[in-house]
Amino acid sequence: LREKTPVRFDEDRGSWDVFRYEDVHRILKDPATFSSRRGLEVRGETLLTMDQPKHTHMRNLVNKAFTPKAINDLAPRITSITNELLDQVIQNGKMDVVHDLATPLPVIVIAELLGVPSKDRMLFKDWSDTMVKGVEGNSEEAFAQMVAERDKAEKELAEYFLTILNERRNKPEDDLVSALLVAEIDGEKLQEQEILRFCILLLVAGNETTTNLITNAIRLMTEQPAIQDQVRQHPEYVKTTVEETLRYYPPIVAIGRIATQDVEIGGQLIREGQQVVSWVGSANRDPEKFENPDTFLPDRKPNPHMGFGFGIHFCLGAPLARLEAQIALEIMLSRFSDMQFAKAPLTPIPSPFVFGVKNYPIT
Ligand code: HEM
Repeated sequence: LREKTPVRFDEDRGSWDVFRYEDVHRILKDPATFSSRRGLEVRGETLLTMDQPKHTHMRNLVNKAFTPKAINDLAPRITSITNELLDQVIQNGKMDVVHDLATPLPVIVIAELLGVPSKDRMLFKDWSDTMVKGVEGNSEEAFAQMVAERDKAEKELAEYFLTILNERRNKPEDDLVSALLVAEIDGEKLQEQEILRFCILLLVAGNETTTNLITNAIRLMTEQPAIQDQVRQHPEYVKTTVEETLRYYPPIVAIGRIATQDVEIGGQLIREGQQVVSWVGSANRDPEKFENPDTFLPDRKPNPHMGFGFGIHFCLGAPLARLEAQIALEIMLSRFSDMQFAKAPLTPIPSPFVFGVKNYPIT
């Protein structure tokens, strides 16, 4: 597709597909022509669906709370949570990576970062699972049920965060909600509803993606044991292995935009108002950009993959996702002397835009 039809119109979906690195890069770099207001903002706008200048203002505000230091300070906690999770599950040297580590780790970390008390952790996990749950089956009733469940979970979560918000307003603590409450630019602060929506966005944007990154990295090391050996011999490759996983098996394989005016890409005329899907998964394997694109190189450098997107919407949680994946990988390698896939049927995540599996047993 990348070679023969680098830009094509998908009649079934009614949207354009873009496959080449250069074209995807150009789209993500030009938010004025390719808008993020893609109709996902039914329940109110978030950072992810805002355009400039509103996006810049909001992003600067949340950046004040979501700082690299706040993230790096989490390293010791991420290490102990990972070890605790593994203590509970490694029996007879077996575990399911998705269920036992890659799903609970990001949920617990984000709960702690936000300041959710540990007694409410399970409640919080149930809500956040429901928020990202896909449709079971393909009937209209199943879809309607999923939407109803999500709406209910979102409403309950918003109410829950509101209680936390009010508590922190009276008595600030060292957590993200307290920091969001005081973040200020030119005398302007975030409104209560904006903070609530942002907290929910973090769950939706950060949990399943990080789960898939951790699982995809372990999956690779079991599919290609030579890579596992190489990383064991060179622990300094853990960081670049995480980056290479984001290139080779990116958790998000496609990013949507809407054209704000007629524009030509790869010789095709895209009309104002049409949807454009940028296939990051394909761009990340473009031989025009990456040498031996289909080879996983645990020490690949430079690695300008777009697994976290590119431009003004570049993933806000990238430092956190990287840190969790690096720590999880290091600990898995040290606690398993030789990770192997415990052959079992795998269930892919039923979304064309996500690359991941629902289970990954290893021994
Ligand atoms: C944006 C991927 C983890 C929060 C994005 C975008 C991508 C992405 C591709 C850009 C979307 C676009 O351009 O429309 C990933 C992947 C992750 C990950 C692959 C894990 C491996 C996280 C985490 C958080 C997070 C852990 C927060 C806790 C966000 C937010 C945005 C975003 C808030 C919107 C930024 C903006 O619009 O300015 N992510 N993400 N992500 N991500 Fe992530």
